[in-house]
Amino acid sequence: MSEKYFIKTYGCQMNVYDSARMASMLEAMGYEKTEKQSEADLVLFNTCHIREKAAEKLFSDLGRALLIKNERLEKGLKTVIGVAGCVVQAEDEEIFKRAPYVDFAFGPLTYHRLPEILKKIKEKKAENVLDTDFPAVSKFDFLPENKAHGGTAFLAIQEGCNNFCTYCVVPYTRGAEYSRPIADVISEAKRLVSSGALELNLLGQNVNSYHGEDENGHERSLAYLLNKVAEIDGLKRLRYTTSYPADVTDELIACHHNIEILMPYLHLPVQSGSNRILKLMNRRHTRETYLETVQKLKEANSKLEMSSDFIVGFPSETDEDFEQTLDLVQKVQYIQAFSFKYSKRPGTPAAVMENQVEEKVKKERLDILQNKLFTLQENFNKASIGKVMDVLFEEKGRHKGQLIGRTPYMQNVHVVTNEENMFHIQKVLIEDATTNSLKGKVI
Ligand code: SAH
Ligand code: SF4
Ligand code: F3S
Repeated sequence: MSEKYFIKTYGCQMNVYDSARMASMLEAMGYEKTEKQSEADLVLFNTCHIREKAAEKLFSDLGRALLIKNERLEKGLKTVIGVAGCVVQAEDEEIFKRAPYVDFAFGPLTYHRLPEILKKIKEKKAENVLDTDFPAVSKFDFLPENKAHGGTAFLAIQEGCNNFCTYCVVPYTRGAEYSRPIADVISEAKRLVSSGALELNLLGQNVNSYHGEDENGHERSLAYLLNKVAEIDGLKRLRYTTSYPADVTDELIACHHNIEILMPYLHLPVQSGSNRILKLMNRRHTRETYLETVQKLKEANSKLEMSSDFIVGFPSETDEDFEQTLDLVQKVQYIQAFSFKYSKRPGTPAAVMENQVEEKVKKERLDILQNKLFTLQENFNKASIGKVMDVLFEEKGRHKGQLIGRTPYMQNVHVVTNEENMFHIQKVLIEDATTNSLKGKVI
């Protein structure tokens, strides 16, 4: 019987992509996937360090993993526990100090070494293995070929970040910015499409600062790449995420006019509406330049809608600063957004800034902001009722015969329909809507 693996993924879409690639590697080694942790011979946690809560979640999950490991041991079954991702890069040996029963740990830049690490552990050549290198040659050169597992697929084109926003750990956990060469991206995109992907989402921490080399060694922009990818036969939808507002070029904006399959939805995290706070955050946009970018994007495609990320309670944020954020939300009319209370991250400049905001104030501001954002989201969803929208079905719903898919605006749609529609795009008449999802029928 083949050994089973279980992966739990925390954090951003890049981690989702990385987990999928690790899963393919394990399957190539003969492992079988399981959704039940208690059945797994190999348990892997792919972790996130972005906020304190995300990192602490790992240690409570590890505690539970130890209990399961011990229960299995009583039945004579062994369990290997591994930790991957950004927490490892940030905590290094701390991981083994806090959880000595972890067998191996590696950062986000070295997961291609998973097979050798597992071999070492199995042959008992090492007690535990830690790998937090920033290798000179990108892991992408070593990973086995990627395949789609549904109608939509992520494709990492860029990784790392040189922006050093003062609150953020990513430049430390994912290292310096790196763009994959054009040819590599195109061949992976073609493989994903030929294995069933109708939608591609090009990923990067700052995807729009992409500058990969073409075959002649010339650096090319994201706009160039989008045009190339859009030419792939059979591809129906194209997205890219996450973008850094100050790096949105006119050439990129033009893509939203020229590329038909580029979805009319853009995630453009603003973080704050106050210029004073944006400066302290070391973001390179102001509320004025941000609003101008949004306006140009909407001029390029009048159907385009926006989403964003927000941080409330950044050090020294006043009620007036916060009002500016609310005002910006009102101006942009986001249709979806993520919002967070500022979380102190060790080693980042903001963690030692004066005038840290009280927890109580952060919570109050978050509630106010989220109320406003949810109202906008609900209004947008309600305005979809009666419309016919293209829906790409991606998963089974909780009820019998129900599938869940996504509209061009990333709205979840629940539809009772033929299972054959799974991983296909169908026209759906929207009949009902809540803050979080839509209901409809295939027409
Ligand atoms: N590269 C993207 C964001 C990546 S992190 C960008 O530049 O926008 C995802 C989101 O987590 C950020 O947009 C931010 O809103 C949030 N975040 C990052 N660090 C945080 C911190 N220390 N406290 C609270 N939220 C944080
Ligand atoms: Fe973090 Fe800023 Fe880089 Fe985004 S741009 S990953 S928020 S440092
Ligand atoms: Fe988290 Fe790392 Fe992504 S810190 S948000 S998993 S880049």
